[in-house]
Amino acid sequence: MAAQTYSIESERVSESRLHGLDINNVPFGKTFSDHMLVATCEQGRWSTAKIVPYGQLSLSPSISALHYGQSVFEGMKAYKSASGEALLFRPHANFDRINRSAARLCMPPIPEEIFIEGLRQLICLDANWIPTKPGSALYIRPIYFATDESIGLRPSERYTFAIITCPVGAYYAEPVKLTVAHDYVRAFPGGTGAAKAAGNYAASLLADREAKQHGYDNVLWLDGIHHQYIEECGTMNVFFVIDDVVVTPALQGTILPGITRDSVLTLLRDRGVRVEERSIALDELLKADEAGTLQEAFGAGTAATIAHIETICVGDRILNVPPISERKYGPQLLKALEEIKTAKVNDPYGWVVRVSGA
Ligand code: COI
Repeated sequence: MAAQTYSIESERVSESRLHGLDINNVPFGKTFSDHMLVATCEQGRWSTAKIVPYGQLSLSPSISALHYGQSVFEGMKAYKSASGEALLFRPHANFDRINRSAARLCMPPIPEEIFIEGLRQLICLDANWIPTKPGSALYIRPIYFATDESIGLRPSERYTFAIITCPVGAYYAEPVKLTVAHDYVRAFPGGTGAAKAAGNYAASLLADREAKQHGYDNVLWLDGIHHQYIEECGTMNVFFVIDDVVVTPALQGTILPGITRDSVLTLLRDRGVRVEERSIALDELLKADEAGTLQEAFGAGTAATIAHIETICVGDRILNVPPISERKYGPQLLKALEEIKTAKVNDPYGWVVRVSGA
């Protein structure tokens, strides 16, 4: 097959829906910006990507994504600098990850020209949808799913890739309360835990609902074999500070390789903090609580950035993590990440990508 070249066409809305909307105060994930990007792939060949007014996609009820869940997605954010430039945070990391997720679900790779250049043009066009209130951002949701109109189980030959965006504030308004999921697992060796597959999130909903019915915000997931080792919390990677060492579960194929997780590890290591990526048994957490050495717990993810964890319920025990006012790492990381993402401070890592023309 001859090498394909890719182009992006764009059709602007006749009237923006932004007028009269306070984008600094909207509920998470419910208000979508003016435009979206859509591209399709058929037998490995990509269509011209189109930036079009945000709206409905016309899809048949027989598309395989709806039946067998061949569907992956990403979460990323755009920010505005004080001088009004639109900024993306580590977009190539999301590009790499969606293609790793796609490979796991037997889907062809998305070309960089469509993902990165399409994203850049989309953000340029809707840059005035980026909120500027501290803690807010334009959340970017790339989605990629199978569209074969067939209910035979096999990898699809047709796919749709789209990017939609929405202004958001904090994902968690308050520190979160977790309860250990004893009856459900999120992932297991050989499964899809490391992929950002839509089905992973569907599989988490029942445990999440039961946690909420008991007054918790999210679950703390344990490993699928021993039901002993901590993996993630809710939809985030999890970190603990025990005796001045920051520990987080090692990536071993069952945990989502979070971009915020990786950024946190980099920032901590560069600041000379002792960091360990390793197995963390629930028992270790209980012992640290008893010994008074559990100093902090926080989740890290794109939507939440850093979510301070207030309490963790383990069976009939409640671990009360020290108050936020006494914490060192979580609050500092949240501030450091927000300052880098909004270009308030120098970015020595090359994480921030300026979207020119915005
Ligand atoms: C994110 O943190 O970006 C996610 O994709 C999690 C989602 C539940 C908001």
